[in-house]
Amino acid sequence: MENFVLSAARKNLENVGYLDLDLDPGKDLFQEIERLKREKNAIILAHYYQEPDIQDVADYIGDSLGLAQAAAKTEADLIVFAGVHFMAETAKILNPGKKVLLPDLKAGCSLADSAPAGPFRKFKEAHPDHVVISYINCTAEIKALSDIICTSSNAEKIIESVPADQPIIFAPDKNLGAYLNKKTGRNMLLWNGSCMVHEIFSLEKITRLKVRHPEAKVIAHPECEDAVLRVAEFIGSTTQLLKYTQKDSAQAYIVATETGILHQMQKESPLKTFIPAPPTNNCACNDCPHMKLNTLEKVYLCMEYELPEITMEENLRLAAKKPIERMLEISRKAGLIGG
Ligand code: 13P
Ligand code: SF4
Repeated sequence: MENFVLSAARKNLENVGYLDLDLDPGKDLFQEIERLKREKNAIILAHYYQEPDIQDVADYIGDSLGLAQAAAKTEADLIVFAGVHFMAETAKILNPGKKVLLPDLKAGCSLADSAPAGPFRKFKEAHPDHVVISYINCTAEIKALSDIICTSSNAEKIIESVPADQPIIFAPDKNLGAYLNKKTGRNMLLWNGSCMVHEIFSLEKITRLKVRHPEAKVIAHPECEDAVLRVAEFIGSTTQLLKYTQKDSAQAYIVATETGILHQMQKESPLKTFIPAPPTNNCACNDCPHMKLNTLEKVYLCMEYELPEITMEENLRLAAKKPIERMLEISRKAGLIGG
């Protein structure tokens, strides 16, 4: 019979976002998570912005495109998504028959929140001749209202797959959209959304850092504002930034994206120096508060009790699946992902 503490934690799950249970401090969570993986045929997919311990127990770490593809291909019965809600939702959309767990249901995304379905539907209705391309950082409802999904690593190819004279709405990230308009020469109509982490980098502080470390290259994620992108020597998705630092000959980098990626950068290039680009104020705003809600304890708890789970209404899932499949198909044809 389920004990009182566990049933109280289950009841409280919606309020707090996870099973709030005390763990024996002597428990080796790394070992326990490995055991649960074997026993439950589970896979842990983690985004680069997760805390280092979570990255270290993950079976696959990647950017949004890599994670979507890994979710589409997996043969595991249980998918533990160490990332934010829209990412776990994407895994569920692609795997209706599998249990998809998110360590903390409250791990949202300010960018996804900046495009609520009601106002976006009206925006789309006001421009009926436009094709809708949405960045994967959006809710299932926005995906269902979109024609094609993209990520930061395939966005140019996705846009190029649309005839040049076809008007496009791009949502929800205005910074990524503006960057893509510049790169592709299109004039996409942009939804006014942004990421709270990437819009807070201070150009002034980056410039001062560059004076102190003239040998360091500035590299940036395209969710950053134009002023930061202008001083960047390389712009790319998290995976592209990581690969760049592995292949490039520079010995130091000022990294304008969430700090979690520095763990893999440092692991892959232990002799190089990685400096997180500073935010405008003195807070740790270059840590995504949503991504960092997940902890190793919550990963263990969600695997042990198979909660919290992502569920979705079937009609919404089917509507959201179409534009994701178009993205995967275009990415495959462009050679960006394997079969
Ligand atoms: P990528 O990992 O696809 O570059 O996305 C970054 C991001 O902000 C995810 O929330
Ligand atoms: Fe969303 Fe920005 Fe956090 Fe990524 S870093 S999950 S875009 S709030």
